[in-house]
Amino acid sequence: MRVYSILISALVLLSSSLIVNYFFGSYVGEFTKSQRIKYGEWAVIAGGSEGLGAEWARQLASQSLNVLIIARRKEALEQVALSIRTTYPNVEVETLVTDLLDLSPSVVLHDIQKNGSRKIGLVVYNAMYQGMGHFTDVPIETLKKVVNVNNVALLELVHPLTISMKTNDLGGGVVLMSSLAGETGIQNFGTYAASKSFITVLARSLSLELKPYNIDVLSCIAGATLTPGYVYSRLGVNKEKSLIVWGKRFLSVFGF
Ligand SMILES: NC(=O)c1ccc[n+]([C@@H]2O[C@H](COP(=O)([O-])OP(=O)(O)OC[C@H]3O[C@@H](n4cnc5c(N)ncnc54)[C@H](OP(=O)(O)O)[C@@H]3O)[C@@H](O)[C@H]2O)c1
Repeated sequence: MRVYSILISALVLLSSSLIVNYFFGSYVGEFTKSQRIKYGEWAVIAGGSEGLGAEWARQLASQSLNVLIIARRKEALEQVALSIRTTYPNVEVETLVTDLLDLSPSVVLHDIQKNGSRKIGLVVYNAMYQGMGHFTDVPIETLKKVVNVNNVALLELVHPLTISMKTNDLGGGVVLMSSLAGETGIQNFGTYAASKSFITVLARSLSLELKPYNIDVLSCIAGATLTPGYVYSRLGVNKEKSLIVWGKRFLSVFGF
């Protein structure tokens, strides 16, 4: 009897969400006019050449925001930019090939803000470094890189951009990509998990601190999502090798 009532509740939930999606799907999640003003004209996505960052760029472009996408790999960045330009021809898409570890106040001012002429209303900090391995086996330089990519570079970018949002008096938005790992801790990813706790707690604090200035801050606490970064980490090998390993696994599914 209990199983039946659970099944019926699940069916009701599923069908009502399908109905809502059918009738209102295209409106769900769309920016209001005031959000578009607040988060426009430009969104910056730090770490957007693949995975969730590339999807952030696509989704924000679909809301008519111009997007500046930052990552290290030129070719991958250009592919993402091209696909967005093709789908949303009215949106401006620019790329910046750089290592976020090289961010400095002058890079942010000159290359990202274009000396103030590029009005940035939304910043998504998505890049990450995992530094996977047993804590005692991972070199200290690797552990420091986790904190430098995930936390220090984040501050280098978000601090000056929120100062500008506050000074311009237009408000804005900040999205910091965090992880469920930061809620629980996770074996062999301890420093990564701790760096994600930092991000979540920073976002919670800033959301209160910056609210009076009309700046929205949120952390996106993602769970396991099939992205290139996720695949590499599960395989426990570097990107180049993992593509080969992944390809072999894929073929093995079909009996090769
Ligand atoms: N996927 C998941 O299961 C999952 C779960 C929880 C949380 N998250 C979080 O979600 C975010 C995105 O994850 P993902 O799986 O999409 O990652 P991903 O596939 O590895 O993508 C990471 C992006 O960041 C860029 N990047 C990394 N280091 C950089 C650096 N030093 N300078 C510039 N760009 C850099 C990469 O581009 P280049 O290599 O071209 O530089 C890439 O575009 C991360 O913050 C992650 O912690 C993901």
